[in-house]
Amino acid sequence: VRFAAALKALGCDFVDVTSGGLDPRQRIAPSPGYQVPLAARVRREAGLPVWAVGMITDPHQAEAIIAEGQADLVAIARGMMFDPRWAWHAAEALGAETAYSPRYARCHPSRWPEAFPQRRVGG
Ligand SMILES: Cc1cc2nc3c(=O)[nH]c(=O)nc-3n(C[C@H](O)[C@H](O)[C@H](O)COP(=O)(O)O)c2cc1C
Repeated sequence: VRFAAALKALGCDFVDVTSGGLDPRQRIAPSPGYQVPLAARVRREAGLPVWAVGMITDPHQAEAIIAEGQADLVAIARGMMFDPRWAWHAAEALGAETAYSPRYARCHPSRWPEAFPQRRVGG
């Protein structure tokens, strides 16, 4: 919090908050969103916009982090490496529309729903 406040005083626009993992004395227990409380505290106490990161893969969880005011932005690394179309899939899961290039539009489940009998899709 002190570091973020000092950065803010220097004109920093935002910080991406992690638990570091730089000291073997740290006892970090990773679980979905395990670093979000750290981001929320920095946001609250330093008054600086924050990115939340760390084992965030569920679109609903990402949405809740923003909606609850815990962070200003959610950044996803490994989830996106595993699923490069994460943003498309998140939009679908959250019922949001997102732009597809014409070449890719035909792959949306709504264009060939018979290929996804296990899911209900709109569109
Ligand atoms: C391939 C890879 C390399 C990374 N390298 C660094 C690094 O050099 N320094 C660092 O602070 N974080 C590093 N990270 C952590 C990311 O900056 C980020 O905080 C984290 O991956 C986000 O959590 P997530 O992967 O659970 O979404 C790396 C992550 C990945 C997946």
